[in-house]
Amino acid sequence: MKIAIDGPAGAGKSATAKALAKALDFIYVDTGALYRGIGLYVLRKGAKPSAIEEVVPLLAEINIEMRHIDGEQHIFLNGEDVSGFIRTEAVSSAASDVSAIPAVRDFLFDMQRDIAEKNDVVMDGRDIGTVVLPDAELKIFLTAKPETRAERRVKQLAEKGVVESFDDVLADVIQRDYNDSHREFRPLKLAEDGILMDNTELPLEETVNKIITLAKERRA
Ligand code: DC
Repeated sequence: MKIAIDGPAGAGKSATAKALAKALDFIYVDTGALYRGIGLYVLRKGAKPSAIEEVVPLLAEINIEMRHIDGEQHIFLNGEDVSGFIRTEAVSSAASDVSAIPAVRDFLFDMQRDIAEKNDVVMDGRDIGTVVLPDAELKIFLTAKPETRAERRVKQLAEKGVVESFDDVLADVIQRDYNDSHREFRPLKLAEDGILMDNTELPLEETVNKIITLAKERRA
């Protein structure tokens, strides 16, 4: 079974998808981490993430892998575990920029499909229900108010020891929403058969339970 969780930054996709995968004994796949891995590589090379002509030639140098270690997803960039380097605001912004480049999306497409073909997955991202897994049995579009999403992001970053101001994160959330949903190629949008869920007022556990109920209905 394939479950797609799409939505804007900070909507709680990863916490929801992780809890869901655990409850259903599925594999959780955070596809944003792949775009972040590419964003990180581009920054390390001193290239401009929004410049197609600078980013595309770098793809040939990139080998990106996803491995599950003790149930946690790790991202390997040319053999190096970069999971600890991809959560900064600079990398977030670079990931959003490179994700607008069609060659980058194609580069990561087969890898995402391949994992979903071999496993029961809960996959989170921006175009999972619309492009990567149009055949997913359940497609959720998770969202919340931008202020709520920025608050969550600040907390999440603080837990990882990264201090960012609320205003900076809110500005980044709004900018990334705009970029992700207005890019020409495969933008963030609700799938035709997707279910819109706003969790501004809905605690994580309730969100997860609602989706589990839907998944069980779809599976039956
Ligand atoms: O989910 P995230 O914040 O880790 O994603 C980082 C960026 O990657 C996000 O701004 C948009 C992009 N992305 C995408 O375009 N498609 C996906 N399936 C996942 C992420």
